[in-house]
Amino acid sequence: MGANSDSDVVYIFDTTLRDGEQSPGAAMNIEEKIAIAETLEDMGVDVIEAGFPISSNGDFEAVQEIAKLVRESAVCGLARSGRRDIERAAEAVKPAARPRIHTFIATSPLHMKHKLQMEPEEVYRNVVDSVTHARNFTDEVDWSPEDGTRSDHDFLCRCVEAAIKAGATCINVPDTVGYSVPEEFGNLIRMLIERVPNSDKAIFSTHCHNDLGLAVANSLAGVAAGARQVECTVNGIGERAGNAALEEIVMALRTRGDAMPYRTNVRTEVITRASRLVSTITGFNVQPNKAIVGANAFAHESGIHQDGVLKNASTYEIMTPASVGLAESRIVMGKLSGRHAFRDKLVELGYELGDNAFQDAFRRFKELADKKREIFDEDIVALVDDEVVRGNDRIRFVSLQVVCGSRGPQTAELELEVDGERRATTSTGDGPVDATFNAIKALTGNRARLQLYQVSAVTEGTDAQAEVTVRLAENGKTVNGQGADTDTLVASARAYVNALNKLLVKREKTAPSALSA
Ligand code: KIV
Ligand code: ZN
Repeated sequence: MGANSDSDVVYIFDTTLRDGEQSPGAAMNIEEKIAIAETLEDMGVDVIEAGFPISSNGDFEAVQEIAKLVRESAVCGLARSGRRDIERAAEAVKPAARPRIHTFIATSPLHMKHKLQMEPEEVYRNVVDSVTHARNFTDEVDWSPEDGTRSDHDFLCRCVEAAIKAGATCINVPDTVGYSVPEEFGNLIRMLIERVPNSDKAIFSTHCHNDLGLAVANSLAGVAAGARQVECTVNGIGERAGNAALEEIVMALRTRGDAMPYRTNVRTEVITRASRLVSTITGFNVQPNKAIVGANAFAHESGIHQDGVLKNASTYEIMTPASVGLAESRIVMGKLSGRHAFRDKLVELGYELGDNAFQDAFRRFKELADKKREIFDEDIVALVDDEVVRGNDRIRFVSLQVVCGSRGPQTAELELEVDGERRATTSTGDGPVDATFNAIKALTGNRARLQLYQVSAVTEGTDAQAEVTVRLAENGKTVNGQGADTDTLVASARAYVNALNKLLVKREKTAPSALSA
């Protein structure tokens, strides 16, 4: 049996910041990665894979900052099998309380021949060399045979045996292309644990992609077969169709302890907050019927269901909304609520803001309370997340006045503050959003291409806040901007400005040029 496979604890290895960030359009900046890492730590995940340090200076910096901040979870950096990759990952995770390196190389005939163009024996030597080298830097080393589920079993066993002998403390088995099915994946884990000598010296782990919608089922089959770590991501984001969804794995284990007698260290009450933060930052909306975190996951529409739930919630609810941190939407505050009550509410919602961020959030809360009669927890979460993503902006939104309707032309009168200087203009466009974005372009001179414009309502009702995501691309760089406001056009302007600020930070890193306008 693998190490710990007789224990009932399943370790949660979160890779939202690495595999999740590899989803097209999900690029995050360092402040956003830190905000997610802090939430993952609050949630009690065992390992945070914070990035792929050799892939860019930005990734290196983010992993290093997270390693400095996070004290409870292990912080892991990904590395290919080359020595420079491993040394860069080692340097990035060095400040961590529990540093970890995750190194991998492909072992399937297809990947070895066409991608790596290496003979199996060369791959084998790389396994030994990479794990041995990684162990010079950290006590915890994960080794992954990429495309493990399409690898030859004899060769896979040899490589796993070599990795354990070289000091790997965890063997992570990826279903890289999401091709496996539950019984087959479980059998693969079982076969490795039974056949590989010294398999009890390592923990076996799963890393399942969701191309056939089987990532969670495959991961759980892996657990039943002896795996005691699951690699997964918040909201299931990840390459292509994504990865196994953390919230589904954790809640399935919690809810069905009778059928799956395992537990995790995750504080499930943080799940909703984590899901919302990841969705706000990436701009990837969660589908309404998504298990655990979808807007409808705990909603009961039909009369028969509502009646049953009112008589006894367990008639139609297999887990409570509170167990995933979904409080009944209550009216929490209003115009007359003061700083003290607002700070208490933030603490209740799991936020700890510094003084400046708190003052900004409180000012925005008061503005919102002037516009919106009932303020729900979701409104406050949207408002604070909006502050988190704003950072040290060079461009700030000041005011917007729009004329729109069927007679046209739609006109936007916009004022921004750019590097401390007020600028104003009036622009027209094909509709009010286009007019607003044209005005921003006129004031900032940017040429970025709009790739996504998305609006969602934070709560119900016509006075709900709109939450807008804007994705901009420039010179091969992609950023997401977010904005929330009761006025959809103001939210749109805020989101566009937020994205521009992120592009400016990225641009400054390569060429510190001023704004072109
Ligand atoms: O899907 C995959 O194979 C990976 C590896 C790097 C573990 O993400
Ligand atoms: Zn992956």
